[in-house]
Amino acid sequence: MSISATPPIQPFAITFGADNATLEPQGQVLTRRMSDLEGLFADADAWARAVADGDPVVYTVVSSPVPEVPRELPQSITTIQPGLTAGEFWMTKGHQHPDPQGEIYLGLAGHGGLLLFDGERAEWLDMSPGVIGYIPPGWAHRSVNVGDEPYKFLAVYPGSAGHDYGWVLEHGMGLRARRAADSGDLDLVPFGTPAGRHRTGKP
Ligand SMILES: [Fe+2]
Repeated sequence: MSISATPPIQPFAITFGADNATLEPQGQVLTRRMSDLEGLFADADAWARAVADGDPVVYTVVSSPVPEVPRELPQSITTIQPGLTAGEFWMTKGHQHPDPQGEIYLGLAGHGGLLLFDGERAEWLDMSPGVIGYIPPGWAHRSVNVGDEPYKFLAVYPGSAGHDYGWVLEHGMGLRARRAADSGDLDLVPFGTPAGRHRTGKP
């Protein structure tokens, strides 16, 4: 099965291929290249150069066949490649759920972070294999790869939640995750910090 199942869905098991983050049976596969992330990195010039220089794949999302429809519980596995754009760690677009419902992420491989923003407050959860990050209703969420290898996580979410990517473009995400130029450590800076400027310490 490689397409979305049609309700009523019968009970079934999904085999997770840990090595390459595949699902069997498997549904849709989404590939996000750098060109799909317009307006999201602080340094727009660096983003444009990366697009011109091969437009690399930043992340992929492999979904199970469970469809995004009310009362179903879809799952997906996201793999974010390691990388930096002008010091900003590679990340997902981030989204808000138009129908405010919760979601869980489970870290599978690599080292990442879960950035949450409710429009006023921003929170950062360190994510590593075995860690469950809880996304409460009403919090926009973005995942970031802060390591040197692919960061992979499982998402489980209500089928009616939806994905509003425009919310993030309009409101931002409260914080940006950068690699500190001096120490190489994760540096979380206020969202409006101009590209290339660093603030010492963490919030
Ligand atoms: Fe979500």
